[in-house]
Amino acid sequence: MNPLRSTLLKSSRVNPRTLLASGSILGATSRIGGIRAAGMRGYSTESPKKGGSGGLVFLTLAALGASAGYYYNSTQSFKTKTLSTPASSTTEKKKDIDYQQVYNDIAEMLDEDSDYDDGSYGPVLVRLAWHASGTYDKDSKTGGSNGATMRFAPESKHAANNGLVIARDLMEKIHAKYPEISYGDLWTLAGVCAVQELGGPTVPWRAGRQDAFETSCTPDGRLPDAGKKADHIRDVFYRMGFNDQEIVALVGAHALGRCHPERSGFEGPWQEAPTVFSNEYFKAISSRNWIKKTLQDGGWQWVDKNNTDVMMLPAEIAMYNDKEFKKYFDLYAKDEEKFFKDFATVFQKLLELGVPFKGDEKVYHFKRTTE
Ligand code: HEM
Repeated sequence: MNPLRSTLLKSSRVNPRTLLASGSILGATSRIGGIRAAGMRGYSTESPKKGGSGGLVFLTLAALGASAGYYYNSTQSFKTKTLSTPASSTTEKKKDIDYQQVYNDIAEMLDEDSDYDDGSYGPVLVRLAWHASGTYDKDSKTGGSNGATMRFAPESKHAANNGLVIARDLMEKIHAKYPEISYGDLWTLAGVCAVQELGGPTVPWRAGRQDAFETSCTPDGRLPDAGKKADHIRDVFYRMGFNDQEIVALVGAHALGRCHPERSGFEGPWQEAPTVFSNEYFKAISSRNWIKKTLQDGGWQWVDKNNTDVMMLPAEIAMYNDKEFKKYFDLYAKDEEKFFKDFATVFQKLLELGVPFKGDEKVYHFKRTTE
């Protein structure tokens, strides 16, 4: 029996959504009750088998009739591409993009590789959308999802972005089908799609991000350091323009996905159902007994005393021990509806930081593929 299966069966904390979502009970990837529930494949720490390398793709400038070229630089990919033509014609084209269809195509991709992590690309796409947006600095008005500068080194190589080449390469496949969409729009739409398809709230979304050159890459150090304390987390998120409650709501996204030793040095998911968007993260942090575990590289993390496969980052327990932050962790642990409502608002805010909207953009409420 794989470790997750035994964890699920042994755990008295498992709720029906967890069992449905696990797929280990049902055998394969499935869609249940409006949730694209991926079959979880155990707490594997192996490197992903597919999607990570991207391969070498060369598009000639001549073929694109290019006016300007640049290197698309992710860790393993090398591509040349042109920037789009003047804003007016870009706007014209964007009117023609069927964003619901883009959403549907991304949704189809989420569980195409049942061997990847817990059976879904959703979590890594949420992380891509967040890391593209979370570089925003409200004072200098730099960073954010506008520009999608993580396509380029040095930003693609910032340690905080380790592993996101998997998500960026996945999005290249969608971009090939919809070349008019900006990468910033595509990545943020993918984050919204993943949240909704994995059972989370509807997140309103607008198009309007424009791609930029590598000269707009943000400096390293703008994303939070998981090894630090609550003060650091406040500094980072206040710089983006969030308050304490918004910060806690955003971190609730850690219901999804896991830490990978080869990406961040940390290991494991935050609770037993990492492909279902829920308030289980808040329930876990507020109700379990967290003990320190030393990691192979000499670092450490918190693990649940009763199920050492699940973890919390040093920064998260530091936040939970902060009086101001704690009240919101406890609130969301008790009230999932409130968490969903607040998360939808604050995730939209995150994805729109620094985006030069004109004000007349259509607001999309994407239909789930399970609706
Ligand atoms: C206190 C602030 C935060 C810290 C310190 C933090 C840190 C981390 C770390 C260390 C990982 C593991 C990366 C890996 O090894 O693959 C991770 C994963 C993740 N983070 Fe955060 N994060 C924070 C806030 C957020 C926010 C605001 C969101 C989204 C709204 C988010 C979404 C995710 C998701 C979905 C994953 C799982 C990715 C996967 O499974 O591949 N995080 N985070």
